[in-house]
Amino acid sequence: MATQATEREIAVVGVIGAGQMGSGIAQLAAAAAGCVVLLLDSDTAALSRAVASISSSLRRLVAKGQLSQASYEDSIERIKCVSSVQELCDADLVIEAIVESEDIKKKLFVELDKITKPSAILASNTSSISITRLASATNRPCQVIGMHFFNPPPIMKLIEIIRGADTSEEVFTKVKYFSERLGKMIICSQDYPGFIVNRILMPMINEAFWALYTGVATKEDIDTGMKLGTNHPMGPLQLADFIGLDVCLSVLGVLHNGLGDSKYSPCPLLVQYVDAGRLGKKRGQGVYSYGTRSSSIKP
Ligand code: NAI
Repeated sequence: MATQATEREIAVVGVIGAGQMGSGIAQLAAAAAGCVVLLLDSDTAALSRAVASISSSLRRLVAKGQLSQASYEDSIERIKCVSSVQELCDADLVIEAIVESEDIKKKLFVELDKITKPSAILASNTSSISITRLASATNRPCQVIGMHFFNPPPIMKLIEIIRGADTSEEVFTKVKYFSERLGKMIICSQDYPGFIVNRILMPMINEAFWALYTGVATKEDIDTGMKLGTNHPMGPLQLADFIGLDVCLSVLGVLHNGLGDSKYSPCPLLVQYVDAGRLGKKRGQGVYSYGTRSSSIKP
């Protein structure tokens, strides 16, 4: 069948950025899709953390009987850490999950365009940045697409696929089938700031910060209100900590600049937390504390 032939074309996946998202994407590509994964990060410590976290996450699946020991070993074997973009030259698909900055991502896309094979698809896991603008940094805009995973990628069922202005139907179809191989549901968004999910989610998170900043309620009551009052699995402030406050702030900046409405202007308390390095769970402290680091900021 044409579908299966299309799926098989993606055998080697490059993942750039081995942080919260990239490590989960690498795990999925190796364990769920059976691909060889070339994992790159500018920080070698991040690569070591990613390999440790993938290994412990897959070991949990083995312990639960959801993955055989042999599949665990094969999956780990398929993940190769690399130290330069040049080593991604054999990738059929590259998914970047680096910092949420348009300039930095564009520079990466310029490099990827030069070194990857002509047929390779270049995907971004951006939370909000225009796929069309990232694509315009390359000579292959029809092969650039948004693949927006959710945190943590191995657990969350959704991938939001974003077509840039020039993304071809063939590339969209390949990425759709690849996403299904990863066991995900897909939704499709036009290329507008924040796409679907963050366009709706980030104003809610920002509003929760405003409620905290203006003393409407404690952080616990804001989160409990939204959990029990609207049946969300976690409150918006805790969710912001899980996403990363730096990521939330960057996405709000894209919404604010791209849609030109002051309602997207980030709450000063969110800005202050990011300035103070309180980036959320990944740093041990955000709105809530997850480690021992202390801070003088009192919401
Ligand atoms: P993170 O901060 O956990 O990881 C980013 C990693 O990229 C770091 O390890 C960093 O060393 C590396 N990096 C930065 N610049 C690089 C470069 N030029 N080359 C190679 N490596 C580089 O960030 P996280 O949360 O994983 O986010 C990554 C991307 O995924 C961002 O675009 C973000 O908007 C997006 N995203 C984040 C979600 C979340 O819930 N955190 C959800 C969906 C998308």
